[in-house]
Amino acid sequence: MTTRKFTLTEVSTGKTSSLDALSPSVGSDVLNIAPLAKDHGVYTFDPGFMATAACESKITYIDGDQGVLLYRGYPVEQLAAKSSFLEVSYLLIYGELPAPAQLDEFRRNITRHTMLNESLLRFYNGFHYDAHPMAQVSAVVASMAGFYHESLDIHNPRHREIFAHRIIAKMPTISAAAYKHMLGQPFVYPQNDLDYCANLLNMFFAVPCEHYQVDPVAAKALDLLLILHADHEQNASTSTVRLAGSTGTNPYAAMASGIAALWGPSHGGANEAVLQMLEEIGTADAIPKFLAKVKDKNETTKLMGFGHRVYKNFDPRAKIIRETCHQVLANLGRVDNPLFELALKLEHIALNDEYFVSRKLYPNVDFYSGIIYSALGIPRSMFTVMFAIARTAGWVAHWQEMISDPAMKIGRPRQLYTGPTARDYVDIEAR
Ligand code: SDX
Repeated sequence: MTTRKFTLTEVSTGKTSSLDALSPSVGSDVLNIAPLAKDHGVYTFDPGFMATAACESKITYIDGDQGVLLYRGYPVEQLAAKSSFLEVSYLLIYGELPAPAQLDEFRRNITRHTMLNESLLRFYNGFHYDAHPMAQVSAVVASMAGFYHESLDIHNPRHREIFAHRIIAKMPTISAAAYKHMLGQPFVYPQNDLDYCANLLNMFFAVPCEHYQVDPVAAKALDLLLILHADHEQNASTSTVRLAGSTGTNPYAAMASGIAALWGPSHGGANEAVLQMLEEIGTADAIPKFLAKVKDKNETTKLMGFGHRVYKNFDPRAKIIRETCHQVLANLGRVDNPLFELALKLEHIALNDEYFVSRKLYPNVDFYSGIIYSALGIPRSMFTVMFAIARTAGWVAHWQEMISDPAMKIGRPRQLYTGPTARDYVDIEAR
């Protein structure tokens, strides 16, 4: 896999090292820097991993300049048009599109694991009704480690597979239970005769006193959003799952760390922040004043849903969601959606503003997703939970890929230490 060779010379000693660049199947070469520490006693310094590949992976590829996103080589546009979230989950985890019998078996396995242990449901009563659902979901997922600690040998492929089925199956149930707790409504149990997204909507919106009919348009729109959010290579929450998982911890604990990382407004929490931002802007004539605040270095205001560490062009997911927004809103009878109209105007103005163009700031996946979640009746506080349900497929795929790699090592970055050098303790009387 080695192609290009680099030579590094330490000027003061003239000592040189030969560094090999490893070539990917597509994308940028990566420089193996191991000789730097061994030969020169130096580490690389790259806060935020702006230019550091933390691992090798075969799962997802992003070309930020071209706006390309491939799940196991398949363009996300094609999967969005032709696949389903469960089929994409299978693809991410097993590496290939399933044959019909494989998909049926996967779907059956997921369906058979959607219920929660009854004692887990009692956890929710420990939360105040207005506890943020991300706090509830991350806590309940972490507590699952207590239920499956004994029956989970992470080095046993079958145990890993059952974990994958359980967590993908239970995330909608866990999330719906958090939502019902917030509403003060009874939990709705999963129904085995409903597909993944219909089941999720039923658990969110059904009530005991009347029959709830799932709108197939809503289920299809939700399935599309879950496909688009399923994976995104080494994003912050996936990297968190990998780092936590590299210690050999229980995978439910590793997933819970990913949920916690996703919650941040710079990451998955942005979809909730976008709706908050649109509601604060209010009307199109207030856009210039808001953008002036964003550009004011004395302010900390960001244009939420814009910008990306990797995409320096349109996020392909944002394009797909924007294109389907019109259709979904029309199908749901929500054509007159002032927030969507405001978002379109805000995007148009920003994309013609030198401040954003010069910094290559384009809409990302979070800019439009909340518009559809809102149209589906999902409240803003649940938007990041929806992101977590989808990204569970990616987190599982990356955790499996790492744990099944015999060369896996615990992640343990080094640092640039600029604190005090060794000094002696001073008794309090002498201070
Ligand atoms: C997700 O990594 C992934 O793959 C994540 C994700 C996934 O699927 O897992 O794609 C999901 O998290 C999408 C991103 C959602 N977050 C937001 O929408 C929050 C708003 N965006 C920003 O916070 C920011 O763009 C980040 C965090 C997403 C990326 O930040 P970077 O790569 O560290 O870029 P930067 O902060 O160095 O910005 C470069 C410049 C700076 O200006 P200068 O200092 O050069 O003058 O652009 C500015 C930034 O201030 N900038 C913004 C901005 N984003 C960057 N200015 C205003 N509004 C913004 N949104």
